[in-house]
Amino acid sequence: MTSFAPAERLRGELTPPPDKSISHRAAIVGAMGDEPVRIRNYLDAADTNSTLAAVEALGALVERRGGGELIVRGPGLHGAASGGTIDVGNAGTLMRLLPGWLAAQEGRSFTLDGDASIRRRPVDRVAGPLERMGARVEAREGRFAPFTVHGAHLRAAHHDLPVASAQVKSCILLAGLAADGATTVTEPAYSRDHTERLLAAGGATMRRNGRHVTVVNCDELGFDEIAVPADISSAAFMIAAGVLVPGSRLLLRDVNVNWTRAGFLRILERMGAVVLGDLEEPSDQEIFPYEPVSDLDVTAGPLIGTTVEPDEVPLAIDELPLVGLLGCFAEGETVVRGADELRVKESDRFATVVGGLRALGGDAEATEDGFAVRGTGTLRGGVFGAHGDHRLAMLGAVAGLASQEGVEVVGMDAASVSYPAFTADLQSLV
Ligand code: S3P
Repeated sequence: MTSFAPAERLRGELTPPPDKSISHRAAIVGAMGDEPVRIRNYLDAADTNSTLAAVEALGALVERRGGGELIVRGPGLHGAASGGTIDVGNAGTLMRLLPGWLAAQEGRSFTLDGDASIRRRPVDRVAGPLERMGARVEAREGRFAPFTVHGAHLRAAHHDLPVASAQVKSCILLAGLAADGATTVTEPAYSRDHTERLLAAGGATMRRNGRHVTVVNCDELGFDEIAVPADISSAAFMIAAGVLVPGSRLLLRDVNVNWTRAGFLRILERMGAVVLGDLEEPSDQEIFPYEPVSDLDVTAGPLIGTTVEPDEVPLAIDELPLVGLLGCFAEGETVVRGADELRVKESDRFATVVGGLRALGGDAEATEDGFAVRGTGTLRGGVFGAHGDHRLAMLGAVAGLASQEGVEVVGMDAASVSYPAFTADLQSLV
């Protein structure tokens, strides 16, 4: 489906799809365990299926039991088998996390490659830290896929990250499990902490002191089971639709409300939106070995502009395009600062978000390190280019429901696994 007509109002309740970030991690850490791990509510989407295929290629047995339930029998921390090229497809998270495990496979080499879009996304940010720990990484032009990770006996190290990135932090923590001591990552700002929580659940010794996270090397990981909650990044599109389409009232069930993922809800609150839920409080010392969930109750209402500061960016990184859309309907100006990372996502989201909103009649412009939107209270509608980026396609769909004349989304393969499911969910609320 590519055309989205203005909606009267949205009503109903649904459980958003399983969390993508946690699904990737569950499959990877499951394969790094020695005992079979049961994973419940694993996301069935192209990216997360690439992760299952990747761990299978590395020697894991994956039993697909239906209904999102999997049993993963891994080769363990040190037992990944090398073979042909591992295809990461379009999954940036897989491409950046997996090398952390592979770097610890002494004497074995692994080549990773992906689609045309993944070949434009840098891997030097994980290659550098892994090399400092003793592995060797050879990448095309020094920073792009295809690249080869040569495993080694790893040394523990302290890494000071120049950019807050959960993918880079996670890669280092996975490598740190097999290094010869305690490995610490210091981030310039907090980023999502799913890897820390999962490793703690798997029995690894993890410590947090503010923006410093430490993993102590261990002999094995073991999990009772891993339950994947509903994805707040997917819920965010439903929430935006519920807030924007007048008269709407939605209930979203079992959504992950980990505070390192819920930045979008805090931004919405500042904008005056009414979204009720039992959100997790920030914690700068503890690593909880579980993910908190809550139902979210969304009511449409007027919005005011806000500024998203650089520290908030990693906590709402995938939802920032939606902040731009909401800004079009808000009173006053909405500004996102310190968001250079948006340039290296599935598309250059500075260009694609600003260009897309303008094409629909929005008053948006790119700034040096983000974007600014002047709210006009409405959006005309028109043709919206997704540039093969599924989050943009979903934004276009939400914009259509909230617009005056509807939106036609172009530039997205209509068969891409998660997009039709999303549009079906959205239409079920109309
Ligand atoms: C992700 C982290 C973010 C996010 C991506 C998923 C993760 O990337 O944009 O969609 O699962 O760790 P960065 O950590 O590179 O900013």
